[in-house]
Amino acid sequence: MCIVAFATQIGQQLFATGDFRVLTRFNQSLLTVKRVRWFKLSVEFSLKKSKYIHRGEISVTTASPQPDQILQVGLAFWSSKTLLSAVEMEVFTELAKGPQELESLTGRLGLHPRSARDFLDALVALGFLERHDGKYSNTPSTGHFLDKHKPTYIGGMLEMANRRLFGHWNKLTTALRTGQPQNEVAHGDPDVFSTLYSDPQRLKGFLRAMTGISRGANIAIASRFPWANYKSVADVGAAQGDLIVQVALRNPHLSAVGFDLAEVAPIFEEYVEDHGLSSRVRFQAGNFFRDPLPQTDVMMMGHILHDWNLEEKRFLIRKAWETLPKEGALIVYDAMIDDDRSKNPHGLLMSLNMLIETPGGFDYTGADCIGWLKEAGFSQAHVEHLSGLDSMAVGIK
Ligand SMILES: C[S@@+](CC[C@H](N)C(=O)[O-])C[C@H]1O[C@@H](n2cnc3c(N)ncnc32)[C@H](O)[C@@H]1O
Repeated sequence: MCIVAFATQIGQQLFATGDFRVLTRFNQSLLTVKRVRWFKLSVEFSLKKSKYIHRGEISVTTASPQPDQILQVGLAFWSSKTLLSAVEMEVFTELAKGPQELESLTGRLGLHPRSARDFLDALVALGFLERHDGKYSNTPSTGHFLDKHKPTYIGGMLEMANRRLFGHWNKLTTALRTGQPQNEVAHGDPDVFSTLYSDPQRLKGFLRAMTGISRGANIAIASRFPWANYKSVADVGAAQGDLIVQVALRNPHLSAVGFDLAEVAPIFEEYVEDHGLSSRVRFQAGNFFRDPLPQTDVMMMGHILHDWNLEEKRFLIRKAWETLPKEGALIVYDAMIDDDRSKNPHGLLMSLNMLIETPGGFDYTGADCIGWLKEAGFSQAHVEHLSGLDSMAVGIK
């Protein structure tokens, strides 16, 4: 039986029935519709009397637009908040001790019985938990990244998203109409960092959140940049210190400096000490708009430029160029937007997050960044994808 005839027949049948999951017997053949995605049906059928499996695809054109993506995105906060609450209640840390049945997990997490099963099964359906023989357990990813007791924990960002950003984003429409931040600075001191850092818990939470969101990029920079060509490195706006720690761990020949506001020092120093790097990684307190930057062969700025307006971005890049030695390198990384501003929603949404969080910050494309680097005097500049959300621009003086 020719695949085209098959396709036509099955296509007609599917549209006639309106049911996209059809199991049909056709002469001696068993035909199974394997997947239905948008306008394409992927079909697998096997001839009973033969050992061969034949695969074919039917393209079905239909004029009717689909509502799925609209509803999925419109209601995405349901899944987002389910994961954030799971992190808040330490579901993954609890399950890192071992698989547990519904009843014991309900008690240990302090869940009300009304929705405990729906909550945990929703986490299974979303791909964050597994359930075998009635026992819940972490997936390899949640066990690795969301167990608070592991050094690989990245939940700090999700904790902050739950505690701060989820509520602030509820005022996105106001931000879009006014151009004003909608976080803790909305009605007070416009200095975001002094406001955030005035509460020690919020300071620590913010710095740990930065480790969570930056870990993938930090490891990529630490392993991929040609560090053998350089002797010293500074991370400007180092936060808890994860980037400088990852770079120093993988490159024992480097001497390293973390530069940040003075309030950050104890949290940075504790993190460096926990990684056994206190002899090679030091902290330098300062304000990058007012104070001299550390003099090293390589300077890094991760998630720094997007906090500031265009004039401030240009100032920081120019200051880095002035501080670096000849042939020194500046690494700038952020969730860069694709040059066409149409394919990387995360970069664009991160820019909206900067609207919520800062008076003038915004994210930018790789081409924008190369333009600013060249304008500051860097002779070479290129952009490279790091991991997940982030790309880096490298400028050589
Ligand atoms: C968005 S965080 C990025 C942290 C880290 N580089 C990362 O990517 O995870 C911005 C960092 O810049 C620091 N910072 C903000 N204003 C600063 C200033 N005027 N001088 C020095 N550091 C500053 C903050 O304390 C914070 O650690």
